[in-house]
Amino acid sequence: MPEHILQMRQIQKTFPGVKALDNVSLDVDHGQVHAICGENGAGKSTLMKVLSGVYPYGTYDGDIVYEDRPVEFKDIRDSEKSGIVIIHQELALSPYLSVAENIFLGNEKSRRGLIDWDATNSEAAALLTRVGLDLSPHTKAGNIGVGQQQLVEIAKALSKEVRLLILDEPTAALNDEDSEHLLQLVGGLRDEGITCILISHKLNEIRAIADVVTIIRDGKTIETLRLDGGDVSEDRIIKGMVGRDLENRYPAREPDIGDEVLRVEDWTVHHPTEHSRVVIDGANVSVRAGEIVGIAGLMGAGRTELAMSIFGHSYGTNISGTVYKRGKPISTKTVSEAISHGIAYATEDRKKYGLNLIEDIKRNVSAAALDKLADNGWVDGDKEVVVAEEYRQSMNIKASSVATVTGKLSGGNQQKVVLSKWMFSDPDVLILDEPTRGIDVGAKYEIYTIIHRLAAQGKAVIMISSELPEILGICDRIYTLAEGTITGEVTIDDANPEILMQHMTKDKD
Ligand SMILES: Nc1ncnc2c1ncn2[C@@H]1O[C@H](COP(=O)(O)OP(=O)(O)OP(=O)(O)O)[C@@H](O)[C@H]1O
Ligand SMILES: [Mg+2]
Repeated sequence: MPEHILQMRQIQKTFPGVKALDNVSLDVDHGQVHAICGENGAGKSTLMKVLSGVYPYGTYDGDIVYEDRPVEFKDIRDSEKSGIVIIHQELALSPYLSVAENIFLGNEKSRRGLIDWDATNSEAAALLTRVGLDLSPHTKAGNIGVGQQQLVEIAKALSKEVRLLILDEPTAALNDEDSEHLLQLVGGLRDEGITCILISHKLNEIRAIADVVTIIRDGKTIETLRLDGGDVSEDRIIKGMVGRDLENRYPAREPDIGDEVLRVEDWTVHHPTEHSRVVIDGANVSVRAGEIVGIAGLMGAGRTELAMSIFGHSYGTNISGTVYKRGKPISTKTVSEAISHGIAYATEDRKKYGLNLIEDIKRNVSAAALDKLADNGWVDGDKEVVVAEEYRQSMNIKASSVATVTGKLSGGNQQKVVLSKWMFSDPDVLILDEPTRGIDVGAKYEIYTIIHRLAAQGKAVIMISSELPEILGICDRIYTLAEGTITGEVTIDDANPEILMQHMTKDKD
């Protein structure tokens, strides 16, 4: 067996106005987990799209040698025929199709020209077992959580007889438990001889699972470090990524906490379709001016459901309870009502609720507060550019101009646009749902600084996060949620990971 399964040499890829890959080389050994690290916009996803034929031969410069042969893939199918499968950063299952249909989509099991449903479902069931998913193949993909969707994507890859599996931030949307399951699975695949390329911003995971890490910065390979010896620290990787030492992961802050801004009392929310199911059960939550309140909970605890139901009843049915703004009851039955009361919700799901990906940066930034740009009922386009340009600079959004379509930005830069949009709407209460998901360490620091700045301006901030270190790093007070019930409230001085975890895993009495 050759030592290298893959060699990419001096890869260059240019988009109009952006040199995404300037000179990247990557050598991947057989049967290893090879991690790729780098800041948002460094070129990681682009490199993998070059490898998998999303950007076909001829649209990039440089050479790819795979299994000892030069390859020139014309499209994804072409690379799949060679056993290369990519699972993209944005999950792509069709929500209305069953899990089995998704697994074999584009690769249907057929017999005499008809889809062989028995084979489809039984083989899907076997693949689901292989990835450790206890799920009927008939389940609609839209009805399962992101963690499970990610595993279905892997099952789909396995159905294609994958030899090189590319995972682009597979655990970005996953909680610790699901992430661990997925990483174990990746480790198991390695033991079966499947090589994995793993892109991740979670350095602890990289250290736990990867054999080797290649660091990319500004479209160039910086270095490749071997991790199996165990003497490469997270700080060492960060140094490679950002080109300098990053002393603290969380900026310092002196909280200045004022009066209560928002209080939610006895908040109960039922499932949108299964009306008898209680998703949030009598929650009481409050946040004061200048305060950063965290909501911690395991996947499925109801964190997003709580936030979205408060934000204009955008989740759930049969919602009861009262929302008070500065002590007075208010109605937040629609999104526009919630916005008019100064509530903003920046979502974890950028694609679905946070951004309009076919619009440019400036349109997205102005979207929640068009009235601030209105001139006799028309949006003042010049002003819009000026405002968006301010955010592009202050948030350090990597794009050639504010006329760049947001769909073309890297994941982390899309997240900065979402934050800009809600900052421009100048809310009193800002609910941030996983604000740093998929964001590199350097940009995370910038986002924490922005959150601090908002609190210092007297805004009330609620932050949902799956990362306990982050919750502990920036919040003043933390609620824990388990199965739709608030199970604990801890001030930062009393908080530590063990206490939070205890509350987060409490059974309902
Ligand atoms: N289709 C495209 N058109 C124009 N520019 C693009 C396109 N895709 C990526 N870019 C640009 O190329 C650069 C590299 O982007 P890429 O998505 O590869 O970054 P990344 O390292 O995956 O970042 P992240 O960690 O945020 O996902 C960025 O500046 C991005 O804006
Ligand atoms: Mg990416």
